[in-house]
Amino acid sequence: MSQDITRPGTVAASQQDGQQVDSQDGQHGDAFENLLHENRKFAPSKEFKASAVVTEADYAESEAGRPAFWAKKARELLTWNKDFTEALDWSNPPFAKWFVGGEVNAAYNALDRHVENGLGDRVAIYFEGEPGDTRQYTYAQLTQEVKKAANAFESLGVAKGDRVAVYLPMIPEAVITLLACARIGAVHSVVFGGFSADALRSRIDDAEAKLVVTADGTYRRGKPSALKPAVDEALANDGHTVQNVVVVKRNGQDVDWHTDRDLWWDDTVGTASAEHTAVGHDSEHPLFILYTSGTTGKPKGILHTTGGYLTQGAYTHKAVFDLHPETDVYWCTADVGWVTGHTYVAYAPLVNGATQVMYEGTPDSPHQGRWWEIVEKYKVSILYTAPTAIRTFMKWGRDIPDKYDLSSLRLLGSVGESINPEAWMWYRDVIGGNKTPIVDTWWQTETGAQMIAPLPGVTATKPGSAQVPLPGIAVDVVDEMGESVPDGHGGFLVIREPWPSMLRGIWGDPERFKETYWSRFESMYFAGDGAKKDEDGDIWLLGRVDDVMNVSGHRLSTTEIESALVSHPAVAEAAVVGAADETTGQAVVAFVILRGDAVDSGDEIVQELRNHVGKEIGPIAKPKNILVVPELPKTRSGKIMRRLLKDVAEGREVGDATTLSDNTVMQQIATSLRK
Ligand code: PRX
Repeated sequence: MSQDITRPGTVAASQQDGQQVDSQDGQHGDAFENLLHENRKFAPSKEFKASAVVTEADYAESEAGRPAFWAKKARELLTWNKDFTEALDWSNPPFAKWFVGGEVNAAYNALDRHVENGLGDRVAIYFEGEPGDTRQYTYAQLTQEVKKAANAFESLGVAKGDRVAVYLPMIPEAVITLLACARIGAVHSVVFGGFSADALRSRIDDAEAKLVVTADGTYRRGKPSALKPAVDEALANDGHTVQNVVVVKRNGQDVDWHTDRDLWWDDTVGTASAEHTAVGHDSEHPLFILYTSGTTGKPKGILHTTGGYLTQGAYTHKAVFDLHPETDVYWCTADVGWVTGHTYVAYAPLVNGATQVMYEGTPDSPHQGRWWEIVEKYKVSILYTAPTAIRTFMKWGRDIPDKYDLSSLRLLGSVGESINPEAWMWYRDVIGGNKTPIVDTWWQTETGAQMIAPLPGVTATKPGSAQVPLPGIAVDVVDEMGESVPDGHGGFLVIREPWPSMLRGIWGDPERFKETYWSRFESMYFAGDGAKKDEDGDIWLLGRVDDVMNVSGHRLSTTEIESALVSHPAVAEAAVVGAADETTGQAVVAFVILRGDAVDSGDEIVQELRNHVGKEIGPIAKPKNILVVPELPKTRSGKIMRRLLKDVAEGREVGDATTLSDNTVMQQIATSLRK
């Protein structure tokens, strides 16, 4: 594993150009000293302080005993069918058990109990389709739909513990499907709609899914965009475990039909009974699998279970967004294909009884003010989005959001990558009317819920920093030896104690779970991120220190894209790097060596290779640039020096190349690229 610790691209471009440090060269201390000193701070307003849902007291309480703190939250925030007897069982690390012996139903907690408590008429979801169609579900209506879906899935033979693959756009049926699975104890595995048929098939196979839920398609920038054909292609070859495909009719596109397998949602869910009793499932019963990129070619099926995941999701959603469910309108823009769309769209807001907006489309459809129109229309008060979106809006100009009434917004959140201070300030000034706190939230698919973030009624917020571990979370920054670094220094982000929403493993591969997260530092979870504690002790995230890229807040593996490239007959070798990009944070740049008999047809081969990656993994993984080169820089042991390629991709002077096995390689690359 390479251990480069690099300042995130966008900040690097503005303030700290070229602060790339190779810790293997033992130089990283100095560069961290030079990192930006951020002096701006925004203290919580009187209103926030006065009405904060979570106060400073939670920090002290959790310090007194984390498992006890979480046990209290679990009982406060969830309704248990059977109370648990032990908060945490950590007798077999790294395999944790939270709320041992307890039984709970996620769907009951997200739905039925609110109806039973007289909140049936509260709007759960305001849905805004890309073409402008709208739907609205109250808690009572959503409960009915989920009960119907639960009955329908059961009638198709889906039982507790079975896996269901979900390949759906951002439509209410996605949330309904997830909750219906949770209700009956089936384990959902959502595959983002931007992944290809091949990627879908490998995930179906890995989880041995019995059912696939999909749609004919969706809309993208005003045009229909198909999904069902990818499912058909994925299932074209025998040897899979899928018995049925349930298809939501969304955009009315013609689809191929396999009568032995395919069923319309309206004919199955639509006709099912709306009576369904939710039974409690064990607190450690698997809730979902979500595949994410790692440092090898094979995506990891991250496994989450029920009680701990729901507790930390609900707590953080309340605490970090200062949620007042009676009055707030909450909107998280994340797609349900990513973990943010799981925790902060499908589960936590509903468990907390919130009213939320769900939007199907892109921010520029049919015009670049679409999001702000939605904020104005629904009087959104809490908005949670990603830095890449904010930077895109900055590029489009403030006159677009300025046309809308955004005064309902009272809190803004950020997730997915570091938000550079310029974007943070713009977000606060232009979108937040210079009054909203900004909560930058650090977490991962693996952590299940937010881990580092300010609390809006407590913390003075600081542009660019995710700041402080949440109550009940033991985050630290350590050096190579695993020793905690003092304030003002950088190192590796670790988590020292188990937390309720932690991953319980990698589906079917316990060894990989131990090796990936628990072997770098003894008794600590290693997150894969570099971080710095500033002079105030606030945490700054510095990007991945492994071979994982972050493109528009989405995780992509360099190795996975390299394998896709070399699977093309024209490619002999490939190396992929994430190069700093002003809008997307990082962009995929590939260096390829063509096979001797392949013709370098310039643009044509580049386009073909981009499409090939699109087919193998999905459009989101297509490299922005592909550079055909005669050689790749390697150490004497044969390891590709991606650091040097990154210098080339970012247009920088190439760094120290003395460990190259052939020291003319960088010259050869430079010459070939000048041609
Ligand atoms: O590198 C960190 C970055 O995103 C990675 C996790 O990606 P994923 O599992 O796809 O989850 C994204 C949404 C939770 C982390 O290892 N990351 C996430 N949030 C932040 C961040 N980097 C800096 N600041 C953040 N707020």
